[in-house]
Amino acid sequence: MKEKEVSDSLVTMTEMVLPTHTNSLNSIFGGVIMSWIDIAAAICAQRHCQKPVVTASIDDLHFIQPVYKGWIVNLKACVNFTANTSVEVGVRVDAENPIEGETFHTASAYLTFVALGEGGKPSQVPSIVPVTDEEKRRFEAAQKRRQWRLERRDYFSKK
Ligand SMILES: CC(C)(COP(=O)(O)OP(=O)(O)OC[C@H]1O[C@@H](n2cnc3c(N)ncnc32)[C@H](O)[C@@H]1OP(=O)(O)O)[C@@H](O)C(=O)NCCC(=O)NCCS
Repeated sequence: MKEKEVSDSLVTMTEMVLPTHTNSLNSIFGGVIMSWIDIAAAICAQRHCQKPVVTASIDDLHFIQPVYKGWIVNLKACVNFTANTSVEVGVRVDAENPIEGETFHTASAYLTFVALGEGGKPSQVPSIVPVTDEEKRRFEAAQKRRQWRLERRDYFSKK
């Protein structure tokens, strides 16, 4: 299977915060941002794998700043790491006040997607080749997170 670079599957996604996305404080519901994160990351993972993918897990998510009605939300997603049938995608979310022209880091998240093949079974994914120093740093950090994440999965899936 042909190796791929991070630049092959980068995703940038832009949304506007509408009244239907907000609570009584005129700031966005966390669940709306979570949904956008999942979509941006799924597009990125699917672009990399060129197969259907499912979200296996989302690591901790911390909302750093409120985001208000009328603001713009920019999401960037990239593949950090690949294992056998799974990929870790990192998403950075920034909110933009279009009137003041200011940008705020809103959230960052790491998601794991599993590619599915015949019969809906986990299926081999192309390896990622980190090229830049930043990509290499993210690759190494993701490798460490994977071990921690699988330990947590085993803990939560105990019957
Ligand atoms: C994700 C899923 C396909 C894994 O299936 P499984 O039979 O447990 O598969 P395996 O144990 O053989 O693991 C397959 C891969 O998934 C990874 N994986 C499984 N559970 C994981 C988790 N909670 N977090 C991160 N990776 C996980 C494994 O590490 C493995 O990756 P690797 O091959 O790269 O090492 C299955 O649990 C599933 O279908 N979950 C529901 C997904 C879904 O519907 N998501 C939408 C939201 S509900």
